[in-house]
Amino acid sequence: MKNRFLSITVSAALALAFVACGNNGSTNKEAEENNNLSSPEKMELQDINNRTQLGAKLFVTPQPALMIGTYDENGNPDVMMAAWGGQCDMNQVCFRLSPHRTTTNLRATKEFTLSFATQRDVAQSDYFGIVSANDVPDKIARAGFTVTKSANINAPIINEYPLTLECKVVEIMERGDDGCFVIGEIVNTIADPAILTDGNIDLDKLQPIVFDMATLSYRSVGGIVGKAWGSGKVFVEE
Ligand SMILES: Cc1cc2nc3c(=O)[nH]c(=O)nc-3n(C[C@H](O)[C@H](O)[C@H](O)COP(=O)(O)O)c2cc1C
Repeated sequence: MKNRFLSITVSAALALAFVACGNNGSTNKEAEENNNLSSPEKMELQDINNRTQLGAKLFVTPQPALMIGTYDENGNPDVMMAAWGGQCDMNQVCFRLSPHRTTTNLRATKEFTLSFATQRDVAQSDYFGIVSANDVPDKIARAGFTVTKSANINAPIINEYPLTLECKVVEIMERGDDGCFVIGEIVNTIADPAILTDGNIDLDKLQPIVFDMATLSYRSVGGIVGKAWGSGKVFVEE
């Protein structure tokens, strides 16, 4: 039941995110036209506190810059950038895949690594999101990156990424357009000691980048501004 709920929630969230496009300056008229195009019911363009109505161009931002590593059926490594995804349970990740070499690989091997693009590898990581192994089979080597075969799964660890999750596919939900939603279970995490503090992942050291759909850019992650399950306690009555 829990998994079913997750599947539906994740599908809906990712589907909404995936139709997003980078327009942050729509007028209400444009929004109305967009709503007419994308929604069966005309949305009411309510004047709420003078806010701009962007219509159905909803996007959840920022998005992670995830690097999915796979082997093809001949053991050739590939890695691609995926921003439409994230953590969807304590030990599970999920993402939306269009038809790519990675998608074919994942359907065959059912195992993958998930690394995090960082400020140090923006160019290489973006390159892995531009070029397909279908066209450039040695795309990893061309970017100057190297791989080590995982001891736990049939997937490549990209040596230059400091943080990598080893994952097994739990479910592939086909979308009927050759694309799919993938849910994977994290079976192990491999971290460069240089990005750890007291054994925990330290984002100040990892320096991950996030994807900004509004400007089609990568951004850095800022400092701590509050404590989770903590800052809100000022409103909790004793
Ligand atoms: C910022 C960015 C985000 C991307 N996010 C996704 C995504 O979430 N899902 C997807 O299917 N493709 C996504 N892509 C496109 C793939 O990374 C790209 O098509 C890649 O070349 C596929 O490589 P492959 O064919 O070797 O697997 C993204 C590309 C970029 C630049």
